Formats: sequence, C-alpha cells, structure tokens
Amino acid sequence: MGEQRIHAGKLGQSQQEEPLLSIRDLKMHFPIKGGFFGRRVGAVKAVDGVNFDLFRGEVVGLVGESGSGKTTVGRALLRLLEPTGGEVTFKGKNVIAMNKTQLREARRDMQIIFQDPFASLDPRMTVEDIIGEALDIHKLHQGAGRKQRVAELLERVGIRPEQMVRYPHEFSGGQRQRIGIARALAVDPDFIVADEPVSALDVSIQAQVVNLMQDLQQELGLTVLFIAHDLLVVEYICDRIIVMYLGKIMEIAPSHELNSDPQHPYTEALLSAAPVPDPTIKRQRIILQGDIPSPINPPSGCVFRTRCRYAIPECAEVIPALREVKPGHFKACIRDDIL
Ligand SMILES: Nc1ncnc2c1ncn2[C@@H]1O[C@H](COP(=O)(O)OP(=O)(O)OP(=O)(O)O)[C@@H](O)[C@H]1O
Ligand code: SF4
Ligand SMILES: [Mg+2]
Repeated sequence: MGEQRIHAGKLGQSQQEEPLLSIRDLKMHFPIKGGFFGRRVGAVKAVDGVNFDLFRGEVVGLVGESGSGKTTVGRALLRLLEPTGGEVTFKGKNVIAMNKTQLREARRDMQIIFQDPFASLDPRMTVEDIIGEALDIHKLHQGAGRKQRVAELLERVGIRPEQMVRYPHEFSGGQRQRIGIARALAVDPDFIVADEPVSALDVSIQAQVVNLMQDLQQELGLTVLFIAHDLLVVEYICDRIIVMYLGKIMEIAPSHELNSDPQHPYTEALLSAAPVPDPTIKRQRIILQGDIPSPINPPSGCVFRTRCRYAIPECAEVIPALREVKPGHFKACIRDDIL
C-alpha cells in the first residue's frame, strides 16, 4: 500500500498532516509449543499484517467478532506484548526500537483502559495509591501535590475525592471503570487505547461511562483507539471505524459511511446483525455460516472467503490488499462488482 493512500485516512484530513500513530505490517504470532522438548510446532496468527494511521484528536473504533485480534493489536502497539514484526511509530518515534527507559517515557503519552475493571485494579491498594502509582512511575505531582492531583482526577470522573482511601471492592463496576479512567488520565496522555471499556458493565450504566469518556476526550483533545463489539456504540462516538477479521483489516471508513455504505462483505454481515436505530432503514439479515476459522491455520487468499457469500475461486488464490475505494474509505476485497 502506498504511503499516500494510508495518509489520506481521515476525510478532510490534509495529506501532509503527520499521523500521531502509525502502524505498518504489525504481526503478533503466538508460538504453539508441543512435544517432549517443547519445540515450536506452529503459531496463532492473532494479528497478521495490520496497517493504519491515527491522527491527532480523532476517535477511531476497532471492531470485529471475538477472536479477530483487536485486543492483541491494542497491546502490541503499546508493547505490552512484544510484536513478532512490523513498525509502530508514535509522534515520529519508532516504538519497537525503544529501550526500557525510552518506552517508560513514551508510556506517559500512551495509556490503556482495560475491559475488566474488576481484574485491572489491584485489590490490595487504595484508590489513592492506584492512581498515585501512575504518577510515581513518571515522578509527577510528588509530595503534597500527589493527593491533590488524585482528588482532582477522581472529581473529574465523578467519584467523591474523600473515597480515595477506599479499596476497589468497595466500588461498583461502573465506579471502578471510572477509577481506571482516572488512572489512565493521571499522567496527561495524548493517546488512549480503550479496550472494550464498557462491555463488562451493566447495560444501564454503559451509556454514562461512554458519555464521560466522550466528554473527557473532547475536553483534553485525546486521540483514542476504541475497541468494541457493539457497532452502534462505535458509530455514535467514533470518527472512523476499522473492521478486523482473523488478524487482518477488512475495511476502514468514516463512521457514518461505514454504516450507510459498507464496501466489504464482512462489514455488510456485521451490520446486518446489529440493531438499526432508524426504522426507515431496512436491512436484510445475513447469517454468517460457521464459526470464525482458527488463526492457527487461516484460509488461503482472503481469510473471510469460507464465510463470504460472494466468494469466487480467485478469492482462495489472492490475498486482497487494503485499497482505497472512495476518499478515506479502504477495503480488502478483490471484488468491486458486489456492494
Ligand atoms: N497469549 C496468547 N497466546 C496464544 N493465543 C492468544 C494469546 N492471546 C490471544 N490469543 C489468540 O489470538 C486471537 C486474537 O485474540 P484477541 O484477544 O486479540 O481477540 P479479540 O478480537 O480481542 O477478541 P474479544 O472480542 O473476545 O476480546 C484469538 O484466537 C486468541 O485465542
Ligand atoms: S475477496 Fe472474495 S472472499 Fe474475500 S471478501 Fe471479497 S468476495 Fe468475499
Ligand atoms: Mg479483546
């Protein structure tokens, strides 16, 4: 894929604008060990050649069925996992080549909010120390300023500052996720990976937490990679959406356009399964046959071909490139005569 094409990522975006984050050919293959000597007998190709750019201040959704590789992309680009291959450039710096000190420095600007607020907060630490720890790592707001900063952050996410002496188990799921958000924001990052930040929460409080995140994003001008299952939530809060399937990107488009004019058969099927808020839009429900294939042995050619209703013999031969089909709208499918 040409540089220029990926740079044209966001509609109305100047082609000259430097992306904040740039991912090229990112791969994460988890080795499978077997036999008596624990030799490597294969690999789970969780992420297999992913390319995209994020521009400053945009919120980009990353969607796809369970197991498509979304979490792995989020963790590998932050180097919480060591990628098998590829390039990650953040603010013009090569993240993959960074040593420990440089990485710690970069992490001030790149934070993550985890899916499970029950597992991601240390149960033995008070809220003050959970958030304070993030400050300590980067030597920010030390001494008397620490408590003050924790109080400010808690207030900002809707938790009473006097509750900082409490432990995670004393809070509800929604409150814990607010604490997780405060921890991520403590160091004033520019970029946040939010990995299904509301899917472990009660439906009744999901909207509140999404609204809080949206307010914070706008107020602080954050760039966010928002990983989610729910296409409706993603369309509501994201500028653009990236659709993944079996470790690869199938489509990238501005949110409204992905919804109104999907170009990839996988996106078409995902959308057909999502509830439609506008009753005047009628959609045919497409049932995807069978399960997502194993990333240990993905189909040849187009990885979606075993479930694609438009597949032709050529789809087994060619790996479709992600190409721009309309301004800022990319798809990885060899057929242009179908949607
Ligand atoms: N540490 C690991 N070792 C081996 N395989 C892994 C590991 N982590 C993830 N995988 C596999 O990689 C693939 C992608 O997983 P990942 O968690 O990134 O998917 P996901 O899109 O985030 O799914 P979900 O929507 O369920 O969170 C899956 O097949 C998963 O089983
Ligand atoms: S390349 Fe072929 S199998 Fe893949 S999405 Fe397009 S039509 Fe379907
Ligand atoms: Mg996940």
